[in-house]
Amino acid sequence: MAEIRFGLIGVNGIGRTHRRALENMEGAKIAAVCDIVEEWAKEAGEQYECPWFVDYHDLVARDDIDIVSVLTPHYLHAPMAIAAAENGKNVFVEKPLCISVSEADAMIEAAQKNNVKLGVCHQQRSSRQFRLLKKMIDAGEIGTLWRVVMISCGVRTQAYYGTGEWRGTWSLEGGGVLINQHVHDVDTLQHLVGKPSLVAGNIQTLTHDIAVEDLATAFIHFENGVDGLFQTSNIDGATFNGIQVAGNKGILVSGQGLRIGRPEMPSDQFARENPEKFGKMETTWEDLEPEEGPSGHPAMIQDMIDAVVNDGQPEVHGEEARTAIELLNAMILSAKRQKMVPVPVDRAEYDELLAELRADEQ
Ligand SMILES: NC(=O)c1ccc[n+]([C@@H]2O[C@H](COP(=O)([O-])OP(=O)(O)OC[C@H]3O[C@@H](n4cnc5c(N)ncnc54)[C@H](O)[C@@H]3O)[C@@H](O)[C@H]2O)c1
Repeated sequence: MAEIRFGLIGVNGIGRTHRRALENMEGAKIAAVCDIVEEWAKEAGEQYECPWFVDYHDLVARDDIDIVSVLTPHYLHAPMAIAAAENGKNVFVEKPLCISVSEADAMIEAAQKNNVKLGVCHQQRSSRQFRLLKKMIDAGEIGTLWRVVMISCGVRTQAYYGTGEWRGTWSLEGGGVLINQHVHDVDTLQHLVGKPSLVAGNIQTLTHDIAVEDLATAFIHFENGVDGLFQTSNIDGATFNGIQVAGNKGILVSGQGLRIGRPEMPSDQFARENPEKFGKMETTWEDLEPEEGPSGHPAMIQDMIDAVVNDGQPEVHGEEARTAIELLNAMILSAKRQKMVPVPVDRAEYDELLAELRADEQ
């Protein structure tokens, strides 16, 4: 089989991770590179003995590239991915897919029209723990899902926001902790539980001198009837990432380790049939040990290659990644307009809000 030829846009930052992964991957090679910083583009071009560019239009126009990887700041994802698709290239985009649902629609449409694959690097899904959670939920281990609580909190310093002029802005980053540091969790939440249908959110900026949020809290109702709570932050000293998913036959809890609690009988049956007013039910707890398996960037890149080679869909294709954008756009819209927001998000309404937020930070 011929090697799959990658064209990388953005060779530093997360580009380094993609470079390392591709250097070690059989059946793939770096065939062209681009970076706005000429020195970095040239250095990478010399390392891989391939053409290098400072203007991404030159890279996407080449006819010796199979997959264009968009590894640049958020505001560039949509224009670069669309340009690549219009030049007949499959596109692999770093998370988040883009900034707004209307951009997401345009990217998906461009990929469909030009008959190319659009994949998104939401590698958290490939972690051992989340693969096992997904498998157990889908296998009905905890029965009918009822509720979910996800907390994904960490910290970024003010100095972090100084590492790129795009960070901390509505114009270029398109949001804060929701769209950047913890968009992986927004994606994983919907991957595990299902499509959201109604969102109420609040966002705040508490400890950073930035325009975008560093704390977000949301109530989410899902199409399958599940009620969820989600909180994420960049303001906590101690990082905590945990999820609790409960159904009638059990509860999955991950945070420090992964456990399943199995009640002695389905809890809805117990509630109906137990004759005592304050009946207690035994629950057996079991520690779960996820299996080793492909994970991280190498797994996501390999998945994208497989989709191109086998003419299938990447695991996180455009529509799949759009749901995270729906969710976080809905949280921001809800917070700013002080109302509950149905999903799909009203495209024009979110674009109008984003234009206001961008104008305010000028
Ligand atoms: N999957 C993950 O876990 C993960 C981790 C970190 C970053 N990211 C994502 O990767 C993307 C890039 O983040 P980063 O921290 O590497 O950003 P960054 O600011 O370091 O930029 C990445 C690269 O893009 C280049 N670049 C910027 N504008 C360009 C342009 N117009 N043309 C060509 N190159 C350009 C920069 O010079 C740099 O080399 C973001 O979408 C971010 O959310 C993902």
